[in-house]
Amino acid sequence: MANVAIRSVNKYYGAFHALKEINIDIADGDFVVLVGPSGCGKSTLLRMIAGLEDISSGEVEIGGQVINDLLPQERDIAMVFQNYALYPHMTVAENMSFALRLARVPKPERDAKVTRAAAILGLENLLDRRPAQLSGGQRQRVAMGRAIVRDPQVFLFDEPLSNLDAKLRVQMRAEIKELHERLGTTTIYVTHDQIEAMTMADRIVVMQNGEVAQVGAPLDLYDLPRKKFVAGFIGSPAMNFLSGHAKAGHFLTSDGIELPLGPNAAVEGDDLSYGIRPEHLRLGDSGVPMHVTVVEPTGAETQVLGRIGEQPVVCAFRERLDIRPGAVIHVLPDEDKLHIFGKDGHRLN
Ligand SMILES: Nc1ncnc2c1ncn2[C@@H]1O[C@H](COP(=O)(O)OP(=O)(O)OP(=O)(O)O)[C@@H](O)[C@H]1O
Ligand SMILES: [Mg+2]
Repeated sequence: MANVAIRSVNKYYGAFHALKEINIDIADGDFVVLVGPSGCGKSTLLRMIAGLEDISSGEVEIGGQVINDLLPQERDIAMVFQNYALYPHMTVAENMSFALRLARVPKPERDAKVTRAAAILGLENLLDRRPAQLSGGQRQRVAMGRAIVRDPQVFLFDEPLSNLDAKLRVQMRAEIKELHERLGTTTIYVTHDQIEAMTMADRIVVMQNGEVAQVGAPLDLYDLPRKKFVAGFIGSPAMNFLSGHAKAGHFLTSDGIELPLGPNAAVEGDDLSYGIRPEHLRLGDSGVPMHVTVVEPTGAETQVLGRIGEQPVVCAFRERLDIRPGAVIHVLPDEDKLHIFGKDGHRLN
């Protein structure tokens, strides 16, 4: 096991600056999730740590050793890819032991490691099958088994669950988490699924356009996003943003609707975004009028979509409500849960 330090790392593809001054410190045994929209540089960063991509400038350190110039096989890292990359002509057991064979680990030791990994992953009865004879979730487990047998200092996962259906994804998510609890191996996990990030991570690194937007524990990012981008990315359904201006303790939307500022009365400025999560809007007898366009009962809650003035808003109410499209309801923002962002997207409150 080992800590990972990423120091002022940059990546250029020709003139394209794909990663910009990335600094991340990952403690020994941490489970860190890199999250962000497609193309923001998640895989590139992971591949640089793995040694599959060279580092244009900056340093990557594992367990106190700079690894920039080490070959991938010298880095003591195991990577699990999105497509699993299993060898189709090999059995499950052969797939799992392949790297050990290359490293000239003696057969009895290889077999012991494969047996142990198979037991951890529930693959004991599948060891003689070939990948084509496995389900998606089973293939995914074999790919993890291949990583586990090497007992590396660091696990790297690049969207390992994105090929699985929704139910299996939830199950595998829990399995990977449990595996981490058992093995305690430092893990860097890439996804663009913010639910995966929230549920799995000790710490989340939110990336945007090749930069780190914010690093923090999942609930800290949820409670106190420093940027509008992070606020909109973390949380589901996504945070509502109403544009407008604030002056003398009042927030007025761009279509002239007044919203309460509560303890944020000191915030002032033009071109602001008034951020409120769907679960932080309450239904009231009076309050801000909202025109309802769609009602979606999910069972656990009632999601109500509509407009405040001309701007789209989603509410998530815990109750089962008999609200119909076309109705006008009144909503009250929880004033302690407001997120106000300036024109440049930075948090003001
Ligand atoms: N070999 C390459 N040559 C040129 N540009 C590249 C190369 N590989 C990646 N890029 C660019 O670098 C940026 C980051 O790509 P990367 O694959 O890291 O994104 P990502 O965050 O993993 O996205 P996704 O969620 O879609 O997997 C993208 O704009 C991509 O087009
Ligand atoms: Mg990627």
